[in-house]
Amino acid sequence: MGSEVGLKQRIARWMEDHRGLIVVLIVLPLSLIFDALMQFRHWVFRKFISAPEKHDERVRAIQKKVRKWSEQPQKDRKMMCTARPNWQSLSTTFFRKDLCHKIAIPLYDILELKPSHMSIRVEPMVSVGQATAFLVPRGYTLAVCLEVAEATLGGLAMGVGMTTYSHKVGLYQESIIAYEMVLSDGSLVRVTRDNEYSDLYHTLPWSHGTLGFLVALELQIIKIKPHIKMEYIPVKGKKNYCNMMRELSGALDKDKATPDYLEATIYNKEEAVIMVGNFSDVPPGEENKINHLTRWYKPWFYKYVERFLKKGRDYEYIPLGDYLLRHNRAIFWVVETMIPFGNNALFRFFFGWLLPPKIAFLKFTTTPGVRAMTFTKQVFQDIVLPMNQLEDQIDKSEELFDLYPVLVYPCRIYDHGPHRGQLRPPRKDQMVPGANYGMFNDLGVYGVPRPVLEKKRFDAVDAMRKMERFTQEVGGYPFLYADTFMTREEFEKMFDLTAYEQVRAKYNANGAFPHLHDKIKPEIDVVEVGKQYMDPL
Ligand SMILES: Cc1cc2nc3c(=O)[nH]c(=O)nc-3n(C[C@H](O)[C@H](O)[C@H](O)COP(=O)(O)OP(=O)(O)OC[C@H]3O[C@@H](n4cnc5c(N)ncnc54)[C@H](O)[C@@H]3O)c2cc1C
Ligand SMILES: *[C@@H]1O[C@H](CO)[C@@H](O)[C@H](O)[C@H]1NC(C)=O
Repeated sequence: MGSEVGLKQRIARWMEDHRGLIVVLIVLPLSLIFDALMQFRHWVFRKFISAPEKHDERVRAIQKKVRKWSEQPQKDRKMMCTARPNWQSLSTTFFRKDLCHKIAIPLYDILELKPSHMSIRVEPMVSVGQATAFLVPRGYTLAVCLEVAEATLGGLAMGVGMTTYSHKVGLYQESIIAYEMVLSDGSLVRVTRDNEYSDLYHTLPWSHGTLGFLVALELQIIKIKPHIKMEYIPVKGKKNYCNMMRELSGALDKDKATPDYLEATIYNKEEAVIMVGNFSDVPPGEENKINHLTRWYKPWFYKYVERFLKKGRDYEYIPLGDYLLRHNRAIFWVVETMIPFGNNALFRFFFGWLLPPKIAFLKFTTTPGVRAMTFTKQVFQDIVLPMNQLEDQIDKSEELFDLYPVLVYPCRIYDHGPHRGQLRPPRKDQMVPGANYGMFNDLGVYGVPRPVLEKKRFDAVDAMRKMERFTQEVGGYPFLYADTFMTREEFEKMFDLTAYEQVRAKYNANGAFPHLHDKIKPEIDVVEVGKQYMDPL
């Protein structure tokens, strides 16, 4: 027995030490084939099956299935969920769909562009990449447009989304004009901020499909120019970059003109590069300052940005399409842990086009062992936190995980009044003076904590639970696509479920859809698995 375990551990260790090689020789080529098959499937779907004019018909078919479910005797009903397999979604948890009654939502079409309303109506499975490819050539983009091309517009609406434009407009949910929902009795309703379903409007975001099925949505769009004039501002000193972010985002003065796009990448506690981007045309004579930074041979974005710490402040023009996908090739900085030599110039030149590995493929091939390892040896968290405590966030993240870079996207959190949705109104000291919103930020912590890198003891569950306690204390919220470690009680202390529970009762979601906490909690016993994996290999 003992030697068998020893062998297993040695193999695991060898594979960890040579991870880059394995990824390049096996994972990337398979991921490429996998992606080609997925693209082909999509192409077939769009060519032969897709048709926006069939939207109503397809929705009626979904309604019929839900009605049929609701007509069963109560004791025979299993909770409902969408039939989309877990591996196709970006969430890190694997919800037990096998225990549910699955309803297919095959809705992949862009329905209507409404320039006079500055909006677009889409089906929920339209991806960010698909929407961008449609909108940008027509001179628009989504007001809140994620960096991840595979994310779906419906998934983001039922969960949460934010981007570098969110200091102007808030979370993705603020850019939603209408949701079209099929409720548990099979009825179809159009939900807006001010109509009779406004209670639903405020509780659908962060509900993760536990109130009904989304079958269409209308989203706000904005006008664009073809390029982003991007300025890279290296800043030394934690206090200095935190202050500059608060100032630039408009957190201190609601009337201050803010840049269109704003983010910071923090490279260590005392050094960050702040990126300020505005829509712009390229003035004559400046064509040499255009950077197509997503081309396969170009350096990874965060590595490229890091150079400005030495080179000093500079600017350039980035085509909008490149800007929106700037973090794609290195999946922020996650690919480096898989392929440590991936940013080598020769590697990029010959193999750079293989990147990034498709997240769906990685999830498709995730075995329970890999799943357990990823959450005990890697952090993947996006957390919404108040910007007036940015310094504390950075200290906390270093104390618990000690990994860099760390990402900061500023974001408005609106005060919609007490008990309206799952987010509470910002606290008084978090509000922007004179405005109806507070300035928060996404703190993105992705990667391998230093103790794990140094093969030291690391208690992932303990660290994550401490981060969650900090988040709750300062009035923040973790994105729920990532692993959470809270008990139901702790969860209800962080999120305000008052309106959510009322809406669940009113629209008969109880018994029809799982409860939010059951939907998003990890499918494995994290505390137990955490203990097993705590000792270094
Ligand atoms: C590498 C990476 C980077 C990321 N970067 C960012 C970022 O920069 N900013 C950001 O905001 N987020 C980011 N995210 C998180 C992303 O917003 C979430 O993963 C989000 O859930 C979108 O994923 P999805 O489209 O696969 O949705 P899913 O995970 O499929 O859906 C989200 C939830 O909605 C439910 N749902 C989906 N469709 C329907 C429907 N039609 N009816 C009812 N319920 C439905 C699902 O069951 C699920 O609970 C990142 C994620 C990853 C993995
Ligand atoms: C972008 O616009 C803001 C607000 O008008 C301005 O302060 C900033 O200097 C501009 N930056 C660039 C790079 O154009």
